[in-house]
Amino acid sequence: MARHDPRHSAASSDFSTGFKRAVIGLVFLAFAGYTLWIDAGPIGLKKTAVADPLAADGKLLYQKYNCQACHQIYGLGGYMGPDLTNEYSQPGKGPAYMSVFLKNGTDRMPNFHLAPHDVSALIAYLGSVDASGAYPANARTTWYGSIELRHPRQ
Ligand code: HEC
Repeated sequence: MARHDPRHSAASSDFSTGFKRAVIGLVFLAFAGYTLWIDAGPIGLKKTAVADPLAADGKLLYQKYNCQACHQIYGLGGYMGPDLTNEYSQPGKGPAYMSVFLKNGTDRMPNFHLAPHDVSALIAYLGSVDASGAYPANARTTWYGSIELRHPRQ
């Protein structure tokens, strides 16, 4: 095996150390720049995906009061209360019907003593959920908590 000239390898390691530092520096600058760009918000990534500000408040309230512990949206969540995905547009239900539950609770659903703004915000959020998707009509919750899609018999 050829022996390396120590001076030569010292020079080449200086070069590669400098090169590594330059690359790490560039990566760091790119990362810091991108982070600042996102934080400054020109593309709005920090904002919630719900466009209507009232509905966005409602989304936070839905999380704060843990509605998903008892209710499902798109079939996901707890199974004590009904799925709320399309309740907003469901015939015989809708915003006025929902507000009765939100303002009073029932013997099984707690009364959260919500401020009028919070009731409107939760309803606006559930309205935006309704507008953005449908819970499949042929879906059924099994007794063990899974979702089963019923297919028409062939
Ligand atoms: C402890 C469980 C529980 C929590 C938490 C809960 N609910 Fe309910 N909710 C129910 C139950 C159970 C019903 C069905 C009404 C009944 O039979 O008492 C219901 C009914 C409703 C209804 C009417 C549904 C229908 O189709 O008739 C709406 C709307 C509703 N809840 C919204 C919410 C929202 C929004 C939250 C969070 C702020 C929430 N619920 C938190 C248990 C819960």
